[in-house]
Amino acid sequence: MVKMMSVCAMGAVAAAGCSCDRAAKDFGTTKYGEAAHLYVLEGKGGLKMEVTDYGGRVNRLWVPDAKGELVDVTIGFDSPAGWETTDSYFGAIIGRYGNRIANGTFTLEGKTYTLAQNDADHHANLHGGKRGWDGYVWDAKPFTKGDDVGIVFSRVSPDGEEGFPGTVKATVTYTITPENVWRIEYEGTTDKTTPLNMTQHVYFNLDGSDTILDQELQIAASKYSPVNADLAPVGPAADVAGTPFDFRTFQVIGARIDDPDTVLQYGPGYDHNWVLDGAGFRKVAEMRGKTRAMEVWTDQIGLQFYAGNFIKDSWKMKDARPMKRRGYLALETQHFPNTPNRPDFPTTNLKPGETYRTVTEYRFKTR
Ligand code: GAL
Repeated sequence: MVKMMSVCAMGAVAAAGCSCDRAAKDFGTTKYGEAAHLYVLEGKGGLKMEVTDYGGRVNRLWVPDAKGELVDVTIGFDSPAGWETTDSYFGAIIGRYGNRIANGTFTLEGKTYTLAQNDADHHANLHGGKRGWDGYVWDAKPFTKGDDVGIVFSRVSPDGEEGFPGTVKATVTYTITPENVWRIEYEGTTDKTTPLNMTQHVYFNLDGSDTILDQELQIAASKYSPVNADLAPVGPAADVAGTPFDFRTFQVIGARIDDPDTVLQYGPGYDHNWVLDGAGFRKVAEMRGKTRAMEVWTDQIGLQFYAGNFIKDSWKMKDARPMKRRGYLALETQHFPNTPNRPDFPTTNLKPGETYRTVTEYRFKTR
């Protein structure tokens, strides 16, 4: 709080093109001893985000319906300890590698790398390791550009961090437009070849209720990646036709989530990669609540639809709101899980001199 007042008084942030309500507010200290801050981005169309520089985590996301009623559609906490006493990467930037690298190991340019198996039940490296990119306070710069408001997060991931090769310079820009679009632009460079697969682990419940099971989802994917019990993709992509993975038309999320399909039961429930149809920046999915809907647009090839199967009813979130298993879902745009061990998948390797760039938009609308 003190920091917000002094920054505004000095005009330092205002001079950089930011208004006072987007100046940093103190948000306590992380378990790693770093000071965290909160920022508010208020779009001209009503979409409003509260976000922390601790892992670039979205803490609150208020979405209007046709009557202008704002509902906070995401999970968040009153302090950094909330994330540290739960374990589901709520709202965070994920790096270096979104989702799983099987057995926490891969071979690159003839050298074998060993990573933490921080997803013990599945013998995998998950979402970057023990302290992934969600575990750091990022450099944060709020901005205004025309009618858009946003924030640029950046950090340098040193060579060898969590066992990965190369120094990676990463930038993630969130923009809120007057059309109620949240755009996420990811950029990265490296000085040694490394796998890089960034994503955002925000969760949604478009009704702000305690279940997503009565909400609807559509995913433009004719194929998905079958997995083994460790949730690592096995074999080639399979057709969704005739399976509970077919979301090519809108489906009620809860309708088939407990289907006895073996691959679905490994979740248990939806926690799989959909191989997205088409190419280039396109609409790939849509979620519908009662009075709000959200389109997902991306240039990525994969979408991890995770139905919150591991969320515990006992966890406590912000404002003493209930948190329930399958109360929220994540739609993570990315390359396919375990690509570093799957030469048959489109590569996630970034080489020196190249720039990693990918864009995803969550577009909110009323219904
Ligand atoms: C998802 C992953 C799930 C679970 C979740 C975090 O991306 O697919 O299996 O680990 O993150 O709890």
